[in-house]
Amino acid sequence: TPFKSEITIDATQKGQEISPLQYGQFIEHLGRAINGGIYDEHSKLSDSNGFRMDVLEKVKELRTPLLRYPGGTFTKIYHWQDGIGPKASRKKRKNLIWGGVEDNHFGTAEFIAYCRKIGAEPFLVVNMATGTPEEAANWVEYCNGTTDTYYANLRRKDGFEEPFNVKYWGIGNEEGAEPDMGRHQDLDVYIKDTWQFVKMMKLQDSSLKLVLVGNSEDLHWSRTVLERLGPVCDYLSIHLYSIPADTSFSSLIQSIDHIERPLTQVDSLLAATPVKVENFSRWYRFPARSGPIKIAVDEWGIWDINSGKGKGAYNLEYQYNWSHALGVATFLNLFQRHSRSIGMATWAQTVNVLAPIMSDSAGSYRQTIFAPLKAFRDYAGQYNLPTQTTTHESSPGIRAIDAASSRSADSNQIILTIVNRDLDHAAEAIVHVKDQQRNQQRVTLKQISYTGKSLYGVNSATNENTVIKTEIKKNVDPASFRIVLSPASFTVIMLN
Ligand code: AHR
Repeated sequence: TPFKSEITIDATQKGQEISPLQYGQFIEHLGRAINGGIYDEHSKLSDSNGFRMDVLEKVKELRTPLLRYPGGTFTKIYHWQDGIGPKASRKKRKNLIWGGVEDNHFGTAEFIAYCRKIGAEPFLVVNMATGTPEEAANWVEYCNGTTDTYYANLRRKDGFEEPFNVKYWGIGNEEGAEPDMGRHQDLDVYIKDTWQFVKMMKLQDSSLKLVLVGNSEDLHWSRTVLERLGPVCDYLSIHLYSIPADTSFSSLIQSIDHIERPLTQVDSLLAATPVKVENFSRWYRFPARSGPIKIAVDEWGIWDINSGKGKGAYNLEYQYNWSHALGVATFLNLFQRHSRSIGMATWAQTVNVLAPIMSDSAGSYRQTIFAPLKAFRDYAGQYNLPTQTTTHESSPGIRAIDAASSRSADSNQIILTIVNRDLDHAAEAIVHVKDQQRNQQRVTLKQISYTGKSLYGVNSATNENTVIKTEIKKNVDPASFRIVLSPASFTVIMLN
């Protein structure tokens, strides 16, 4: 007999808007993420740009609205001028952060072209470790400049008459959190340096949306950034990685469930920290931020360090099994429930490194985690609805059912995303939908369920089919209905 759970959705309100940018992706010059991943000039599988076409098709399927580049930690040594102009004359550099040699053949223009191909907004991160405010501002001019000035003209000379119009810019990455990098361990120095970057970049283009470095573990750091940089901070960056203590399913799920705590803390900090913007226009020739500061989870994902099976640079190429896919769905439910404060999120990363897509010289395939990443983009609604779940513990500390619900953009559909983290039992859930608007006639329910052939099963170049997707339709009473969720499954319910 299945365990019984109850899920109550409050659909009496429109719901909290979910930023579409929550479903972003990240690419970095790290191992085979870009070179040998999305980009390979020498492969027969690549187009004339050097983009691997088989990989590109899969990235397109992910329907990401936002792509972050070029790092990550890599930004600390990246000088954007190395990656522009004729490829043959671009400088080769040692990748001092991640190892290997960077030929810089994939640079700014290639990144923008890739974004256009997949329909994503570009999101660039500037080097605030070994770069200068001036260098960052010049990159802004190169990308967005429309005047008859040096860097805008350089872009034109490189063949791009029209500006790239890059709206989202990050200043630094994990500053303060990386002891080896020195200078920005000192919060006061970080704040002062950031002001210099902000001023120079905003003087180039006052419409930029800036992502500044917060820290979900160090609330003093985040609070100070909000207090002192609040007038120019559109997004506060935090990175939320699950690093399970061991390879068990319960460690994985616990490490993800525990992320709710730092996320809630940063969320509360945003609500509680006063941001003073008075007299801003007296001192600055660009406007202060408008609208609320949002969280940018501009890196999130799963570091399966303890499996000992990571390959490639820094051992960051993981084979993600079905348990990880359930973890990703849990993560996405968590983000959806926090949509009031999350303005963007980018999964780290996209190809080969911590990735939903793997490639080698012969081809590419989707990993198990591709399924939930795609499912949320395809099916989740645009407004989060408050959802309460009563469920049993499937193992100590693990609530079996994790659920979130949303309303579609046109308001006609209610969508439930549910993870059954009970590995041994199906769950029967009674779903109650409080909704005065909806008449009581029976409606169509569509249930799309995803299960893995086995919990630790992985996809591979020769078998991409360990994830099983099934669909059923039935008519139900929209106020209260019963669903059955297979053990270790992820399910999307759509009520029309
Ligand atoms: O995503 C890999 C690395 O993880 C990023 O470069 C860094 O920001 C983080 O620590």
